[in-house]
Amino acid sequence: MTVHTMKVLVTKKVYPEAIDFLKQSVTVDYAANEEGLPPQELLDRARDADGIVSQLTDRIDAAFIAGLERAKVIANVAVGYDNIDVPAATARGIRVTNTPDVLTDTTADFAFALLMAAARRVIEAHRFVHEGQWRTWRIDLLVGHDIHHRTIGIFGMGRIGQAMARRAAGFSMRILYSDARRAPGSLENELGLEFVPPETLLAEADFISLHVPLLPDTRHLIDAAALQRMKPSAILVNTARGPVVDEQALIEALEQGRIAGAGLDVFEEEPRVPDRLLALPNVVVAPHIASASIATRRRMSVMAAENALAVLAGRDPDNPVN
Ligand code: GLV
Repeated sequence: MTVHTMKVLVTKKVYPEAIDFLKQSVTVDYAANEEGLPPQELLDRARDADGIVSQLTDRIDAAFIAGLERAKVIANVAVGYDNIDVPAATARGIRVTNTPDVLTDTTADFAFALLMAAARRVIEAHRFVHEGQWRTWRIDLLVGHDIHHRTIGIFGMGRIGQAMARRAAGFSMRILYSDARRAPGSLENELGLEFVPPETLLAEADFISLHVPLLPDTRHLIDAAALQRMKPSAILVNTARGPVVDEQALIEALEQGRIAGAGLDVFEEEPRVPDRLLALPNVVVAPHIASASIATRRRMSVMAAENALAVLAGRDPDNPVN
């Protein structure tokens, strides 16, 4: 069968370049909606698709994969792929791909922005001015935490963790990291990294930034015990995945002043953000947008389309996950 008779389901709105690219070679069933398809409709439309360009809000679990009749590829428009049951796809001979690299710096930029916003109270300051509260310069008005020359602890020294470390180095920070695997010595030297056990990182870091994928081992990596080890002045930044943090334990730690603040782009049950988190002035929240620069989101869209088409054309995709 040639590629031209094949159908690719694009499950949700992407940048138009991706659709144009796919349309040159295959029939595109484009669900050009903002919200994502309801699960049953998603499966109905995916059932006879040869390829699926999916997004992280699509739950592609084993039952879903069992319902696919022709799929050869699931191309996720994201670097993370915890929304896909990869072993189930592999067992059915379905390739899974992701969109690494293009979003590395963009995501680290945003993680650093959250870090800075939480440390220097940018959102509180913005509100303060908007609300007409500004009367005069005051010695202790909206005082926050220094970033420069402080210690950052990075969980996960992969691509985005490294990009975060480069930014931290620019702020003359001491950089601790923990990872299942130690980084090469050349990288440690280049970035001035100190490989430490998680307990040391938690106890010594002024800022803790999470850059691990969501795996059984990293679920609730930051739990009540981890929060207990952190300094009362510590700020937690999460641009990885919500369930890496035990959200209830985080809320309690923040409410009790056991840590100083948080910058959160991801949540356990998106798009639900607990009211108790929103009530805390020292928590900066964003709606899962760390990779959301125009250029990067466009490139992610096209990359996923290219990965899908490569598999359908019998080639190896550039970004295989399995
Ligand atoms: C976004 O969260 C991604 O994984 O790309």
